[in-house]
Amino acid sequence: MKKVEAFIRHEAFEPIRMDLLDKGFPSLSISEYKGSGRQKGITEQYRGSSLTIHLRPKLKLEIVVDDTDVRPIIDTILRHARTGQVGDGKIFVIPVEEAVRIRTGEDGHEVLQAHETEEIPAGA
Ligand SMILES: Nc1ncnc2c1ncn2[C@@H]1O[C@H](COP(=O)(O)OP(=O)(O)OP(=O)(O)O)[C@@H](O)[C@H]1O
Ligand SMILES: [Mg+2]
Repeated sequence: MKKVEAFIRHEAFEPIRMDLLDKGFPSLSISEYKGSGRQKGITEQYRGSSLTIHLRPKLKLEIVVDDTDVRPIIDTILRHARTGQVGDGKIFVIPVEEAVRIRTGEDGHEVLQAHETEEIPAGA
């Protein structure tokens, strides 16, 4: 199992989410964070003085999948997140030791399978 961790622009998320859902990957997590890449910051003028902004708001997307699903996930992210401009983001692939579904106690590969039913009960 691997975790694909992608640092992306906010506007890239919805197209990525829809494409992943289409391809059978509904499970993911996102969080908002601030980060910086290799650029040293953007200098803006504020009331006559210059101010350098080092941290910019971004989204972090985390998806745990079987090893064989890593490449299609990366390709999907690249398709929607790449504009060719600096700050497009980065993708890291991290080994995952174990996964456990709390409801059933099952572990491993089974935990990563998409649900058979389309129904979403309240609280899911
Ligand atoms: N080595 C890293 N470790 C952790 N987070 C990183 C790393 N590199 C980039 N990030 C995260 O990814 C976000 C986007 O990075 P960014 O796309 O600017 O990378 P970059 O290396 O500067 O490439 P580019 O030259 O295309 O801008 C950053 O705001 C940061 O949160
Ligand atoms: Mg950068």
